[in-house]
Amino acid sequence: MPAESPRVYATRGLPGEALGELAERARLSVWPGPGPPSPAALRDAVGEAEGLLCLLTDRVDAALLAAGPRLRVISSCSVGLDHVDLAAATARGIPVGHTPGVLTETTADLAFALLLAAARRIPEAERFVREGRWTPERAWEPDLLLGRDLHGACLGVVGLGAIGRAVARRAAGFGMRVLAWSRTRREAPGVEWRTLPALLAEADFVSLHVALTPETRGLIGAEELAAMKPGAILVNTARGGIVDEAALARALRDGRLAGAALDVFEREPLPPDSPLLALDGLVVVPHIGSASLATRARMARLSVDNLLAGLEGRPLPHCANPEVYG
Ligand code: NAP
Ligand code: GLV
Repeated sequence: MPAESPRVYATRGLPGEALGELAERARLSVWPGPGPPSPAALRDAVGEAEGLLCLLTDRVDAALLAAGPRLRVISSCSVGLDHVDLAAATARGIPVGHTPGVLTETTADLAFALLLAAARRIPEAERFVREGRWTPERAWEPDLLLGRDLHGACLGVVGLGAIGRAVARRAAGFGMRVLAWSRTRREAPGVEWRTLPALLAEADFVSLHVALTPETRGLIGAEELAAMKPGAILVNTARGGIVDEAALARALRDGRLAGAALDVFEREPLPPDSPLLALDGLVVVPHIGSASLATRARMARLSVDNLLAGLEGRPLPHCANPEVYG
């Protein structure tokens, strides 16, 4: 590797070939793990780096940027960028890359899987069988594990971005009526527009797809949960901070909501003593929205392409702060 090759720091190994190819074009160091580097370890590591390849577990804030005076490009292997202080990066003239598009359908698939899992109580049913409770006395019990139908029901999509629209398409295929609210009003085939309060009052299922920003933090709080249709089911594959988890736990405990399914949490990993884990009607998975083999490889490829473009002074294929280019 020539001494003039740029130095790149990656906070984790990634699936697929892309990181190997990056190693042929840059002096690449990768945090050895296990898990993500601590903020202090990351600050120590970026000292000489010109490129940073990070994940949503890495806080990229003004302190980190100050610790990396040579940084010229930041590339996150995620579409969400709530872990990056975009304004601070822009102030330094550093383009920030992310991975929209390549994970849209995979994440929408998971949202739909969660919707079905919560509606048809699949994890609860699986525990029932595995725990030996499906005894001859309980063979085909007429009222065993009764759930909700998706067909003929109404889905409310909160945030009609790429993933929200992909979920709306799936819902139409399942014979659902689809309502949507988003910050920017836009038409989508088969989707009826509502205000957020109207959507919450009318939908049997609500699926969240807004980015986490100061404006959307706590968007679904106690008041919004109380405004939901009694017996509704909430699905969150966006970010944990959008929902007030304590209020959600209360709404489930009180029976106000029939269930919820969460891929994302206020604190990740979800602490083992979280009150959420004591609730039967709750389906939880560990932030696996984009976790298919093909999609993670595509995300790795795009994040490396973003990084290389930045190092070579070209516009990033997907730049979240294009204003750096004037
Ligand atoms: P997108 O196409 O950019 O859509 C973003 C959505 O967030 C749009 O509906 C947008 O509203 C809304 N939004 C952005 N800023 C807002 C604000 N300040 N106030 C209100 N709404 C705001 O992104 P996407 O690809 O659909 O992804 C959406 C989010 O899903 C990501 O940001 C990420 O947090 C999450 N995600 C999670 C997983 C997972 O593994 N669980 C995977 C991928 C993504 P308008 O367009 O109407 O303005
Ligand atoms: C995953 O949550 C992402 O933002 O890519």
